[in-house]
Amino acid sequence: MQGPSVSKSSVAVKPDEAMDYLAQNKTYYHKEFGRGYGHHYPESHVIKLYNRILAARLGISGARGERMLDFGCSTGANATYFASKGFDVYGVDISPIPVDKCRQSLPDIKDHFQVISPSPQEDDSFFDCLFDVIFSNQVLYLLSESDFHVRLGTLLRHLKPDGVFIATMMGTKHYFYSRSTPVGDGLRQVVLSEDPRDQFFLRFTESEDHLREQFALFDPLYVGYYDINLCQDSGFHYVFVGRPTHSEITSTQRDTAG
Ligand SMILES: C[S@@+](CC[C@H](N)C(=O)[O-])C[C@H]1O[C@@H](n2cnc3c(N)ncnc32)[C@H](O)[C@@H]1O
Repeated sequence: MQGPSVSKSSVAVKPDEAMDYLAQNKTYYHKEFGRGYGHHYPESHVIKLYNRILAARLGISGARGERMLDFGCSTGANATYFASKGFDVYGVDISPIPVDKCRQSLPDIKDHFQVISPSPQEDDSFFDCLFDVIFSNQVLYLLSESDFHVRLGTLLRHLKPDGVFIATMMGTKHYFYSRSTPVGDGLRQVVLSEDPRDQFFLRFTESEDHLREQFALFDPLYVGYYDINLCQDSGFHYVFVGRPTHSEITSTQRDTAG
């Protein structure tokens, strides 16, 4: 059943407020990382995505040292897992604490991890190379609708023309939705407690059609979802796996891919 519809821009977000939401999200994660946030192991859907989709169906197992960007890599649980499969892994995140942890966990490739600004810019460049796979697990929903589209454009530019893009997005069935109110540009403010450091901004995905719409720069290969509900609180996320649509492939990507 489809969740309630999300107001896309009932209240316009002014540019200075838009900067504030990114700063607020950064403060939230900084506080969480400061108190030990971050998985030690990949969540089960990540392992299933690797086994059932990447390796089994798309033949991208890591055995050929395929290059992967983990966008929003946190403390590196997924990066370490994919590196163990043979991928040449790179990662970026907005907070230095998790990026340092990635560098400690993967010292041989410590220069593959970078701190980036939360604010996407059209000309952002990460590592000056193209990737076979870009993976962004539970990250891109932390951007407003306009920032999301800028970020998606930059990620597309970093993907090989035949590369694979994988992202997960929080659904309106997730329990955070019931604790949120709309603030504009597709964002909702989630309030977990009165402490402002327990408040952050998200964009929820309503349905699989909404998911496909958001990732229209890519031809969908697989679309699905995962959920876990241990305390009557859904953790529903959609999963998108796609390849760049032919028309969206830039000449730089065609020239550089090899
Ligand atoms: C829910 S965690 C997911 C972490 C990791 N991908 C995983 O699967 O465990 C969200 C991550 O996104 C990062 N993040 C938050 N805002 C971001 C932004 N604007 N750009 C890039 N990363 C961001 C956070 O620092 C955090 O590491």
